[in-house]
Order: sequence, then C-alpha cells, then structure tokens
Amino acid sequence: MKETNTEKLPKHIAIIMDGNGRWAESHTMGRILGHRKGAESVRIITKTCRRIGIRFLTLYAFSVENWLRPKAEVRALMNLLLEYLENETREMMDQDIRLTAIGDLDSLDAHIRSKLYEIMEKTSENQGMLLNLALSYGGRDEIAAAAKRMVEDAVAGKIAPADVTRELFSKYLYTTAIPDPDLLIRTGGEYRVSNFLLYQMAYTEFYFTDLLWPDFGETDLLTAIDEYQRRERRFGMTSEQIGGR
Ligand code: FPP
Repeated sequence: MKETNTEKLPKHIAIIMDGNGRWAESHTMGRILGHRKGAESVRIITKTCRRIGIRFLTLYAFSVENWLRPKAEVRALMNLLLEYLENETREMMDQDIRLTAIGDLDSLDAHIRSKLYEIMEKTSENQGMLLNLALSYGGRDEIAAAAKRMVEDAVAGKIAPADVTRELFSKYLYTTAIPDPDLLIRTGGEYRVSNFLLYQMAYTEFYFTDLLWPDFGETDLLTAIDEYQRRERRFGMTSEQIGGR
C-alpha cells in the first residue's frame, strides 16, 4: 500500500464526484448502476481518508441543479443515499466518524431527512473524522441564504452594519463549524467548480483528474494528496514571506 507523508496533510478535502454516468455508459450499463458503483467509491475514499488522518471530508453528493435530472434518476439517487445511510451507520460508529450535511436539507423527502438527522445525532460525539455530505447544495444559494439570515438578524437588532466582517459572515454559512477546504478534487475530466463551496474555496488547491468517479480509488486519492503536498500555498504572499525560498 502506498505510504502517505503525514506532514502537510490537508485538513479538509472536498470532492466533486463526477463521471458516474459516463462510467456506466462505457460499461454498457444504465446510469443508475454507475451511481451505485460511485457509492462504492464513497465507501473506499471515506475509509482511506479516515485511515490516513484527514480531519474533514466533504462530498458533493447532490446539487440543487441535480433536481432537474430525469425523475427516475433523482429517485434512484435518493434511494441510494437512503441505502447508504442505513448501511453505513455501523461503520461510522466503528470508525469514529461523525456525519454532517450541508445544503437545503428541507427539500429532501421527509423519510430521508429524518434518517439523516437520526445518524447525525447518533454520530455527533464521534471525533475521528467529520464526513460532510453536500445534499441539495448550491454555493450561490448558500451565500444568499446566509445574507438573508444576516439581514433578519440586523432587522431584529441583533447585529449592526459595523459588525459585518468576513468572520461574522462565515458563521451564517452552512459550513460554520468546518474549516475551509485545503484541497478540492474533481474527477471526470471537467475543469469547473459547479457551484460548490464558492465562498469557502478562496484559497483551496484544485486537483483535476480524468478518472471517472467509480474508478477513483485509494491510490488515486494518495496521488492527489501527494501532489497537494508538493505545492506551495502562498495565500497571496510571496514565497519568502511564507519561508519557501
Ligand atoms: C456525478 O456523476 C455524480 C452525481 C450527480 C452524484 C454523486 C453520487 C454518488 C457518488 C453516489 C451516491 C452518493 C452517496 C453519498 C451514497 P454524473 O452522473 O454527472 O456523471 P456524468 O457526468 O458522467 O454523466
């Protein structure tokens, strides 16, 4: 098994899991089977992240835009999510993984939402790693919802315009308790952020691969981390300032 350099390990990895449909097509299967295979990759990658000491893993499992897909595909994705939640609780407890979710969770079906909340509650004390599922998630919606709640607080007299800082604004986002991602991985050969964590990714390192999500395994994750570790993160400063040269 490939070894990981534990120095400069990304604290938070975010993943856009793209390519399930194309994987299915290339195996002459229906798209839904591609998603099912994709759910297996979710299990493998989660386990690997936990093993090597990643603290936060955010997976883009369903975007607000995904509601526009054919009804049968949306239903299949929701069923897969439910199945995943039901089957993985035990593993999450064994692995000391805490589950959280971000997105417009109110738009999920009631039975899925209640299962999700049940597992979030059950795993809430787990400390090993935080697995964060982005569900019915949209970055612009998140920012607009944060602004709305901020205005509500201002109208209620809880905050004044002078209180508004980046730090305060971050507290209104879905990710309030989670640090910004250090590394974004996108599979499937597309080079875009697709409305994912728009505010949080200001200084995130991006790693793109042509591999389709169902083919993305442990070694591929370690390769992405390896590349991240060789990059110099300057946060707008010079190399000298951060002690690089
Ligand atoms: C993108 O592939 C993937 C999705 C829209 C959904 C991601 C879902 C999973 C990985 C499985 C279920 C998740 C969990 C947490 C159990 P695509 O359909 O856009 O692929 P394509 O671009 O090749 O068509």
